[in-house]
Amino acid sequence: MNAIVAVDRNWGIGRDNDLLIHLPGDLKYYKEKTIGNVIIVGQRTLESFPGSRPLPGRTNIVLSDDPAFAPEGCIVCRTKEEVLEKAAEYDPDRVFICGGASIYRLFLEDCSAFYVTKIDEAFEADTFFPDLDALGYHVDWASEPREEKGIRYRFERYVKE
Ligand SMILES: NC(=O)c1ccc[n+]([C@@H]2O[C@H](COP(=O)([O-])OP(=O)(O)OC[C@H]3O[C@@H](n4cnc5c(N)ncnc54)[C@H](OP(=O)(O)O)[C@@H]3O)[C@@H](O)[C@H]2O)c1
Repeated sequence: MNAIVAVDRNWGIGRDNDLLIHLPGDLKYYKEKTIGNVIIVGQRTLESFPGSRPLPGRTNIVLSDDPAFAPEGCIVCRTKEEVLEKAAEYDPDRVFICGGASIYRLFLEDCSAFYVTKIDEAFEADTFFPDLDALGYHVDWASEPREEKGIRYRFERYVKE
């Protein structure tokens, strides 16, 4: 399976249960990668989606410990094992771990590719992605740099080997 994430210079990913910045080109890239596929998110990330609703055109698997949590249009799993069991029904290339921080950490070792948008800014983040450079992963593909809202960013793919 894959993970997809947008990080700043310090691997920051969010603040106050929202993204650090909304870059239209990055949101388009995220949609292109995930549409028609399976996304796996934590309960807080689902809450952060527009209207706290699952993202359309995708199978939304949500992880929550709360037995009362039953959002419409989602497959709810209570444990990591339940998620892996459900995800095994799909082609692993079509499955994307989509955050937030706790879910990225939980499935780090299960991912073979990481689609990382590197935003060339240092925001005041309160949630972070593990530093893949420090963990020995490496970049096997990178896009040309882009700029939007005066902010430079680019798409990279990290792999283990
Ligand atoms: N930059 C990006 O690409 C990106 C992508 C996604 C999210 N984000 C940001 O990340 C932040 C949210 O991250 P977060 O870590 O606070 O929240 P999260 O990972 O989205 O959700 C946390 C919740 O998931 C459930 N959960 C986590 N581990 C579990 C387990 N082992 N078993 C059962 N349930 C489990 C729990 O729900 P219950 O409390 O219901 O049990 C927990 O409260 C936001 O700022 C968001 O905008 C950024």
